[in-house]
Amino acid sequence: MAKDRARFVCQSCGAVHPKWMGKCEGCSAWNTLVEEAADPRPAGPSRGAAGGRRISFVGLSGTSAPPARIPTGIAELDRVLGGGIVPASAVLVGGDPGIGKSTILLQAAARVAAAGKRVLYVSGEEAIEQVRLRAQRLGLSDAPLGLAAATALRDIAASLEDEKDAALVVIDSIQTLWLDALDSAPGTVAQVRTCAAELIRMAKTRGFAVVLIGHVTKEGTLAGPRVLEHMVDATLYFEGDRGHQFRILRAVKNRFGATDEIGVFEMTERGLVEVANPSALFLAERRGNIAGSAVFAGLEGTRPVLVEVQALLAPSAGGSPRRQVVGWDSGRLSMLLAVLEARCGMTLGMNDVYLNIAGGLRINEPAADLAVAAALVSAATDRPTESECVYFGEIGLSGEVRQVAQAEARLREAQKLGFAAAVLPRRVARGAGRPAALDGLRLSEIGHVADLVAPFAAAGREKRKKAPAPEPAEA
Ligand code: TYD
Ligand code: MG
Repeated sequence: MAKDRARFVCQSCGAVHPKWMGKCEGCSAWNTLVEEAADPRPAGPSRGAAGGRRISFVGLSGTSAPPARIPTGIAELDRVLGGGIVPASAVLVGGDPGIGKSTILLQAAARVAAAGKRVLYVSGEEAIEQVRLRAQRLGLSDAPLGLAAATALRDIAASLEDEKDAALVVIDSIQTLWLDALDSAPGTVAQVRTCAAELIRMAKTRGFAVVLIGHVTKEGTLAGPRVLEHMVDATLYFEGDRGHQFRILRAVKNRFGATDEIGVFEMTERGLVEVANPSALFLAERRGNIAGSAVFAGLEGTRPVLVEVQALLAPSAGGSPRRQVVGWDSGRLSMLLAVLEARCGMTLGMNDVYLNIAGGLRINEPAADLAVAAALVSAATDRPTESECVYFGEIGLSGEVRQVAQAEARLREAQKLGFAAAVLPRRVARGAGRPAALDGLRLSEIGHVADLVAPFAAAGREKRKKAPAPEPAEA
């Protein structure tokens, strides 16, 4: 017999626990469990399945056109979505508060509306006046979109029933909506899930696309977008820190396109501006000839992106040395340090190590190993890396440098940005397959990380040999 028993739901990952605990067993987050009333699950066809309607099974062949798309007119957003918003689909846009979710969606909504489609923007967070002020600032006041401030799901659903030709509905944000049938407060897992499910159901049956904005909060006071990920067709995350002007929109799930595709934006006083050439932007503040800096030829989705990896070593003040990493995996850094020590005889362990991916980008590729190693070795030997050189390649535990995907695309990007040399895994782009267009690029193919370290060590010896000579100080 189902009695109304209390249950505790993690507001970060949605895991359900029978009793309160300080730490969620599902996602290890602290203080995220909140008591919620049990699921009002309808008594469905539980026992036996008699009386069901017969479904037909079909073959895999047959004509199915690719989904039509509503282009948003913002090329970087369209790229991440896989060519535009798919009608009758649900998209979740997550990100920290203040990162620019409302801004980009207002910009996109205005463009779709200007193209003649019916667009509705429901703001649960800001009053009409505030949204109008933002639109004014963005120069979008003339866009013919429908704006409303509402939080009651019942009202929103009833209003959408009357909107026969709505093509796009933006909900800002899903955490502010509530349904009076549920006891829990707005923003709890139960409310967020129920409201999202209802909006998604309406989108599918009525044929409009729905974009749900969701906050990610570290404190877990509001249900994170993670509990919605499996319900929507596409999940995009807005990354970057507020202190930086760059914003990166990343697809982590996309039923209608590729994941790992990124869109790069710059936050300006007139809203988010697309960055068509992110490499140039990420490298804009780079200062050449500095020890501890190396350029990584990376790949984000289908697009090559060059970024600067910066490393700094400082003598540790005692105790266990610090490892501070921004934009990369700290476990991976420890591994690389160990490989450099064990396979190349370098002594790095006593130092505090700081590693930073410039520009606020987060890199997940193992291909960054070689660039990180180059930055570390450069910092340790106090010799700058060869100027105008890019690095990519994965490093294994025995110090071997392994091949990575899409070497040619990476090299082309480096060439396009005026780089003269590349250090990469051996046997890439060798022989007949090497495209003529890469001819300006000097390639040094290496098989072991020791080959990376050797030139720095040689340069160091050179310097030491020269040192006693009465030479003018180097700049
Ligand atoms: P917003 O879109 O409100 O963020 P979110 O919806 O993700 O919480 O953006 C908030 C920040 O963006 C705010 O700090 C101000 C800044 N901003 C600009 O710099 N330029 C602009 O044109 C706009 C509209 C906002
Ligand atoms: Mg907002």
